[in-house]
Amino acid sequence: MCGIVGYIGKRDAYPILIEGLSALEYRGYDSAGIALVHGKGFSIFKDKGKVDHLKEITKKISAGGCGTGIAHTRWATHGAPSQMNAHPHLDQSSKIAVVHNGIIENFSLLKQKMIKDGVKFCSETDSEVLAQLIGKYYNGDLASAVRRALQDIEGTFGIAVVAADNPGVLIGARRGSPLVVGVGEDELFLASDASAIVRHTKKVIYLKDNNMIELMQGTFNTTTIDNKKVNPEIQNIDWDADSLAKGGFNHFMLKEIFEQPETIQNAIRGRLLVDEGAARLDGLNLVLQELRSIQRLIFVACGTSWHAALVGKYMIEDMAGIPVEVEYASEFRYRNPIIGPNTLVFVISQSGETADTLAALREAAHKGATVLGICNVVGSSIARETHGGVYLHAGPEIGVASTKAFTSQLTVLSLLTLLLGRMRRISHSDGVTVARALEAIPKQVQKILKQNNHIEEIAKTYAKHNNFLYLGRSYNFPVALEGALKLKEISYVHAEGYPAAEMKHGPIALIDKDMPSVVLAIKDSIYDKVISNIQEVNARGGSVIAIANEGDKEIEKYVKHVVYIPKTIPMLSPLLSVIPLQLLAYHIAAIRGCEIDQPRNLAKSVTVE
Ligand code: M6R
Repeated sequence: MCGIVGYIGKRDAYPILIEGLSALEYRGYDSAGIALVHGKGFSIFKDKGKVDHLKEITKKISAGGCGTGIAHTRWATHGAPSQMNAHPHLDQSSKIAVVHNGIIENFSLLKQKMIKDGVKFCSETDSEVLAQLIGKYYNGDLASAVRRALQDIEGTFGIAVVAADNPGVLIGARRGSPLVVGVGEDELFLASDASAIVRHTKKVIYLKDNNMIELMQGTFNTTTIDNKKVNPEIQNIDWDADSLAKGGFNHFMLKEIFEQPETIQNAIRGRLLVDEGAARLDGLNLVLQELRSIQRLIFVACGTSWHAALVGKYMIEDMAGIPVEVEYASEFRYRNPIIGPNTLVFVISQSGETADTLAALREAAHKGATVLGICNVVGSSIARETHGGVYLHAGPEIGVASTKAFTSQLTVLSLLTLLLGRMRRISHSDGVTVARALEAIPKQVQKILKQNNHIEEIAKTYAKHNNFLYLGRSYNFPVALEGALKLKEISYVHAEGYPAAEMKHGPIALIDKDMPSVVLAIKDSIYDKVISNIQEVNARGGSVIAIANEGDKEIEKYVKHVVYIPKTIPMLSPLLSVIPLQLLAYHIAAIRGCEIDQPRNLAKSVTVE
């Protein structure tokens, strides 16, 4: 969480930093701040609230003359959102300014010690400890002072540090929180992710864990934190700044929902072998023999990525006959999991930076497992630390509510199912059936998106309701979970996802005229059972919004509203059935006037435990 930007170069730092913060605001928006170095001190502006507010309070500053600066947008962990707790933080003599992402676990101990030594603190944050420590060790050599201070720190950090008396240097360092360095013509950038700097340069260095970088005018020096020389690889970003604009949509979330025909296609491209009824995923870095010898899979993820993993389990067990366990990363990392031989671990993460998922990856690797990733963000920590994996190629996902990443994850999991299944249970002709069905998905999604207005009308009917039940069975049970999560995170409406048949074991007690149920009634082998569940809701005076297959006129007898989706094979139905649920959540949140792209208390990338 939290977004960091830094700049050193010949241009004015202020507009570059502010614009960078706006691009990073999805990472946290409790407060924002900026420090400009003008040689004889800092100009510091910070306050509670969003980047637009920071822009407002700084619009009168004269930007000219400061070519070095750092900035921050915060997702609060230690200390409430306030001006005092906003970054940058200074040491007591205002020689050093620091912006920090992560958590300093031993901050309380360090703070007490320093208070005893007479150091005056002015915030409740863990981050201020770092500023005070660097200040204590600073004697004109900023890199050495940062290095020395980081030896005292336990926990995670991505930092940018400047010294008041030296506009010629900007230090970045990371452990557990991402940092990317942008390499421009005679200018250098530092940011939590590339979206903050892609307008200025496409050449980037993804700083490795426990590495530090000293940025000077036009040149840089990379080392480990304990000062061993590192030769960083400069890479090219393969997307451009246009992907960061809303493109005529009111919100990034809506834009990303509408991008899905294209993003699903991007995940398929070059990987689906239709005539062979198979798939290739070269990035897994596994030879045929290794793939054939797999006896068990473990999927580890959080949130929406966990829901995708659950669909993946249903696909792979059903079609490839390999047992799959799906684990919450936060549980897996601490519960001493058993990882036997011939077990592959997959970590699934849009951002590739989720702290729990990253820790689970390390735990699995420590136990000797081969760990593979399904990630969207190229060069992210998870992408770099796994033994191999598959990128989603969905482009940057800005909306805090994950939408296009979910369907791309499902697409990659379908490809994995085909790859593993063809070596086991799936015949050539069944493989071709799956491949053709997958090939058809982007157009089918397009067709569902055309019903946006119809879904908005349904949203109008239910926008004032405060409780929802989402029900699905088989492949569509995880979709029910995902639909409920989408609604609660962006509209703050209570919603629960349940396997439809479990409803009668408890949640049915909640059903009355004020609690609508969204039911995934897809024509598959258990369709009739779902109809029985709908009848159970009706009998208690509840109203039902059904997601059903085109041509299913029968369902209209039992439900208040229907959204029709095209037919596909059961394993791919979640790729279609989730789309109306994303749109329903979006419209309910919009009608309720919620901040859709930046819902309260949330952040896009959860880099703290
Ligand atoms: O980046 P990741 O996929 O690892 O993120 C995991 C969750 O934090 C994320 O899916 C979260 O649940 C989203 N806000 C859901 O929309």
